[in-house]
Amino acid sequence: MCGITGIVSLNRENIGEVLVKCGRKLTYRGYDSVGLAAVHEGKVDLRKDVGTVDAVDKLLGLSKMKGDRGIVQLRWATYGPPTKLNAQPHFACDDSIYGAHNGNIHNYVEYRRELVETGHIVRSENDGELCVHAVDKYYEQTGDMLEAVRLSTRDLKGAFSFAVGRADSREIYAVKMGSSLVAGVGNEETIASSDLPSILPVTNNIIYLADGEMLALSPEKVEVYRIEDGKRLTRKPEPTTIDVHAAEKGGFPHFMLKEINEQPKVAQDVMGVLQGAKSDEWLNIIEESKNLYLVACGSSYNAGVVGAYYFNRLAGIPLVPSIGGQFESMYGRALDEDSLSILVSQSGETKDILNVLNLVKSQGRGKTLGIVNVIGSTLMFNADAYIPMACGYEVSVPATKTYFSQTVIFAYLAAMLGERNGTLDRQEAKSIVRMLSQDLPTQAQATIDHTGILAKNLAKTLIGVKDLYCLGYGMTDGVAREGALKIKEICYNHCEGMYSSEFKHGPLSIVTRDYPVIFVTTPEDSWMVINHINEVKCRFGRAIIVGERESSLEPYVSNEVDYLEVPKGNIVLNPMIDVIPLQLLSYFLSVDLGIDPDLPRNLSKTLTVD
Ligand code: BG6
Repeated sequence: MCGITGIVSLNRENIGEVLVKCGRKLTYRGYDSVGLAAVHEGKVDLRKDVGTVDAVDKLLGLSKMKGDRGIVQLRWATYGPPTKLNAQPHFACDDSIYGAHNGNIHNYVEYRRELVETGHIVRSENDGELCVHAVDKYYEQTGDMLEAVRLSTRDLKGAFSFAVGRADSREIYAVKMGSSLVAGVGNEETIASSDLPSILPVTNNIIYLADGEMLALSPEKVEVYRIEDGKRLTRKPEPTTIDVHAAEKGGFPHFMLKEINEQPKVAQDVMGVLQGAKSDEWLNIIEESKNLYLVACGSSYNAGVVGAYYFNRLAGIPLVPSIGGQFESMYGRALDEDSLSILVSQSGETKDILNVLNLVKSQGRGKTLGIVNVIGSTLMFNADAYIPMACGYEVSVPATKTYFSQTVIFAYLAAMLGERNGTLDRQEAKSIVRMLSQDLPTQAQATIDHTGILAKNLAKTLIGVKDLYCLGYGMTDGVAREGALKIKEICYNHCEGMYSSEFKHGPLSIVTRDYPVIFVTTPEDSWMVINHINEVKCRFGRAIIVGERESSLEPYVSNEVDYLEVPKGNIVLNPMIDVIPLQLLSYFLSVDLGIDPDLPRNLSKTLTVD
């Protein structure tokens, strides 16, 4: 959704420069509009407009703004279209108080009406403005900013974080109420932001916050308080190892290509975590549960579908996949104290997932196990246990390495559970773990090296294509869905991912001469998939194969470019390996179409709204 960053310094005179630098790191959280409020000699200079950080900086001189403290906000529009007026930050009734939020205020309509009826001058249609007015309202009553910020949260319903300050005081205050917020202590300055990459340019001394906490930034320190009763909490800064360059492109033209290339290392890193001390805790929480639900959105959901196949194949355990928004109406009443909801979210802030987390916890309907990448996220803090994806920051809006990490986690858990319940013998389980920790990194690297040029050549033949299918079968079901999602997300084509045996039950009618259908195959299932390929070929459709080279499939591709061949592997590794050429295909096609794959239109890396 949106991103906010606030900085309070002792000696900076040009706060705009560092706020723009930090704000730019949040671009993946929204780039409909950006604004900056800087306080200089007791006056607030507030500039904002639609467009990316660089575009608006060029237009309004954001990085030249004077002051020793201020807030920058990047917006992904929900309440109110992306306009200059709805851009953030906002003033309250006058320019004595300024602020910005991330997330959304569910009681926007009624609270806006209440504020207007009580004399507040509310200018925009953006829910973030109400946070600033709420603080103003309680400041009028108490004359104390800390108390005003604390009380303001009582009026605001929803999941949000916000930062607010006054022209006449050097502090900036921020609250964490369901959306992400993290703080840092620098040299004679402090910072708070929606995400860590925005803090790293200033400091790597990090203070993590939990929901229901608020903070007061002053140049020397970050004070943390519990919102409920205003109690001061002690929270020591801890150095993070994630460096600011990790959030840079590292020589690649786009973050997406960098992150695809990081996947071999992700396999090693996440396997290191999985075989660590907490492994038994995670396996126990799963084993003690009677029914397992996998709840996720987007790419995380597709990884969960792959996970369901691993759980069945390696452990004989049913893992019911559900997209976040669907879960309550489809399975909510079936949940009981023996249920385990496995919540997969790289950001740990996806509102559809946090809704399920709150449902399970508030109704005592079993336990929750998070699989999460962003440390310090709401899901991480609030699930009964969590497995870190160990990917480092994923900046590109389309997920790649976090999806990859999730599939490795599912394969590992399934193998360990299979050994525990006897589906696998010890030797089988050990060989799978060895494959994941030793063979997978080299296989993934070989696949990147081998299929890069193949994907690039195939992409060129798809430039004019606006409509296609991507079909999987068995273990590649989730892989095909993910390949289709990548093409939708960053090529703006309609590409539907579905089960290949289902294609003949209706969708096959789309096939005309040369209509492209991608088949994601494994040697184990190609005997079946060949029937589905035939159904397309006998109607002169175009079959594109992704998978190991098989002589039985060669006659079905009209030319070599239609065979995205991956190195020989095995059925456990195939699903993880087969996704790589699809990631690369969508990437190269996106670039060929003149699209920035890192920042596809209308999308955001983290959707903290319903
Ligand atoms: C979407 C992102 O907004 O959220 C996708 O564009 C992502 O890339 C999906 O897969 C789910 O996000 P998360 O953080 O819950 O895994």
